[in-house]
Parts: sequence; structure tokens; C-alpha cells
Amino acid sequence: MRGTELAQALLLDNIGQLATPTANWDDRAGPRRGNAMREVDIVPEAAVFCRDGEIVFAGPREEVVRRAEALVDAAQLIRFDCDAGVVIPGFCDSHTHPAFVLPRLTDFEKRIAGATYEEIALAGGGIKSSVRSVREASQAELEEQIEFAFRQMALQGTTTVEAKSGYGLDLASELKSLRAIRNVANRWAGTVYATFLGAHVVPAEYKEDRAEYVRVVCEEMLPRVAEERLADFVDVFCERGAFTESETEQIFAAAKRHRLLVRAHVGQFTAAALQRFSDYHPASFDHLDYVDEAGVDWLSAHNTVVTLVPGANFFLGQKGYPNVRRLMDAGVPLALATDYNPGTSPTLSMPFVMSLACTQMKMSPAEALVAATINGAHALCCADRKGSIQPGKDADLAVFGVDDYREIPYWIAGDLCLATVIRGELIA
Ligand code: NIG
Ligand code: FE
Repeated sequence: MRGTELAQALLLDNIGQLATPTANWDDRAGPRRGNAMREVDIVPEAAVFCRDGEIVFAGPREEVVRRAEALVDAAQLIRFDCDAGVVIPGFCDSHTHPAFVLPRLTDFEKRIAGATYEEIALAGGGIKSSVRSVREASQAELEEQIEFAFRQMALQGTTTVEAKSGYGLDLASELKSLRAIRNVANRWAGTVYATFLGAHVVPAEYKEDRAEYVRVVCEEMLPRVAEERLADFVDVFCERGAFTESETEQIFAAAKRHRLLVRAHVGQFTAAALQRFSDYHPASFDHLDYVDEAGVDWLSAHNTVVTLVPGANFFLGQKGYPNVRRLMDAGVPLALATDYNPGTSPTLSMPFVMSLACTQMKMSPAEALVAATINGAHALCCADRKGSIQPGKDADLAVFGVDDYREIPYWIAGDLCLATVIRGELIA
């Protein structure tokens, strides 16, 4: 039990529809796949009672209200009337890049005029242009940007966020980015998992000696990040124009030596040999626009979550999206995330990402909900506390002003989140 200062009791009353990934799955067994990705438990006319930051009861309204009133004095109970709206678990946005300072408007215009993401990057735009401004920025400026992002996320129903560095690409700027993430995480009500992405691209000064940059990441940056406990995960952009598979393996091996978990950007433009990374048990492989049969087989037999980020496909104006049916039919567990970043996906909205998942990738609303909540939690290794509405889990919830959870992806860019509850605290 936590201290009395957290002993706050909150009753979310008058819920028209409570919708959560099914209770009929043991998340200790791994991320949800197959039928478990399609099953949503629905309770009409419901209530949720939270105390000390956790969910105590959730279910039919009369029963929950009666049990809550039996446990807590009416004077101590904070009641929130959900106005017959929908309550779902708070979103777990398991892939974001919030440590940047400027939008990339020139890249935006170039792409509108016909240039591709890779062409822009080769011409010195892209990730490298964000690096210039992050190196010049103070930690306070970065904190301001990150805090703005986390607040906006919470207003749209996100309660758990993964946040990557990766626009510093030298020791001082990567540490500055991760310290900024940590400081904002300490001020923000939601839960943050930090990821060290020193291997985002090879910075210009190492263009002629990429092996030396990989060494700096492994032997200079990673030990400092681990020592200061600045990250939970290490990520690598494993792709043509970024890092090779063998460089990725080297970086994963260094992460393992420092007891950090790994994840990777893979298959955004070309397929990678996923089975090569088996020994490192990646928590998540992200993008997966391109994946070969051996990769699909590997994924269906492992607990690595595939995190899809359709905001990037949409913003880059791509016609193609990852083949969700092929992955789902093979039993691959899928999560959805914003990939919030200035180059490919400047959105903070998980409801919008769900809309893209349904309209562009043909996920059902139920699959999109599971992917955006519990499987996002699996991608961050926190499904024991997050991602579904179960007694004993953290009271992280989102209230939407709609009648049916399927309206969340239906009303594109609808901005219908009425309130968010983060560890039992109401953020209206
Ligand atoms: O997930 N692909 C690599 N990283 C980001 C893009 C970063 C950027 O362009 O600034 C992504 O799409
Ligand atoms: Fe990304």
C-alpha cells in the first residue's frame, strides 16, 4: 500500500460503455495475438472505483457504486460523472521521439514537391537537420518541448509513453536529451519509459568512419546512459541509410552487457533478417512495412511485439502500409504507436493512429484498441500494471464523449477525449 498522501478515492460513475481488452487472457503468457487481439470485454452502464492509484472495482454500475460506498466515506469519495460516455484503458504509446526542438518545415515542403524521405535525408535534411538544433538547445528548452508533448498526449487519453533520445548523436547531447526526458517524467503524472537511440543515424562527423561511431555508441555513450540510469531500453534504426544488421547486433550486445532491454526500428524501407537478433529478445520491432516470410515465422514464435506506426506512412504520403492481415493471420502480436517525431509523424494522438489503423490497414476497432493499450504495454514490458481495466492494475483510464468505443477510431481527428485518469488522478 502506498502512503496516505495517495489515498485518494475516485469513482468514475455513469459510464455508458466500459471497454477493455478481454480479461480472458493471462498477460504473463506474453502479448496478445490471434483471437486475444480481437476480444474486447464490454460492460454497459458501468462504473470504476479507484483508490491509491489502482483500480479496485470495475463493472456494472450499481454493484461498483455500492461496494465503493461501503469502503469509503461519501465525503472522501471524488465522483466524476462520465455523462454516459465510454471508458477505456489509457493508451500506451510505445514509440515516440519527443526530444527535439523544431518542426521540419523545409522537409515538409520538399516532400510535398515530390522528394522522398530518403532523398531529403541524403541531401542533409531529415534526422540530421534535427540534430543541429538539438545540439544547440539547452536542456531547459528540450524539457519545455517534451513537457508540452506529454501534456497534449494526456489530454488525448495517453497515460504511458515511451520516449527516445536520438537527435543529439554525441555524448553530451544524448545525455542532455535523456536527462530532459527523465526530468519531465518526474513532473508528469503519467508513466514514461526512456529509450537511448544514439544509433538513429551516423552523424556527419563520422561519415567516413562509421565503425568508430558504433564504437562511441557502445563504449562511450551506452555505459554513461546505464550508469546514470537514464534509459530502460536501447533502440537502433536498422535500415538502409542508417545502421546495418551487424552494427545493430553489436549495439544490442553492448546493451545486454549493461543490462538494458532492446528494441529496433526495422523494415521501414527494406526487410531485415529478424531472426539474427533472437539472442537479445527485443521487446519490440517497429515499422515492419517490409518483412519476409522467415521474419513472419520468427515473429509468430516469439514474444517480440510488432509496433505499427501508420502515422509515418500517412505523413510521408506512402500508398503502402504494413500488411496487417498477413501478420495477424500468422499470430504476430501487434501494437500501435504514434511515432511522434518531427520528420515522419508529427502527431500526438493515439485516437488518430487508431483511425489510420482501421481505415488504411484494415484493423478492426477491437484489434486497434487492443494494439493501442495492452499490446503497447507489452511492448514496454509493463503489461502487469498497464493496458487493461483490471482490479489491481494502475488506474490509468481515458473517458471519451461517445456512446460506443468503435467511435474512437470512427470520428477521424475527432478530439473526443473528455478526461484522463492517471494513477487515480483525474486530468480533465
Ligand atoms: O520512426 N525511422 C527512423 N526514425 C523516425 C524518423 C525520425 C525522423 O525523421 O526524425 C521514424 O520514422
Ligand atoms: Fe521512430
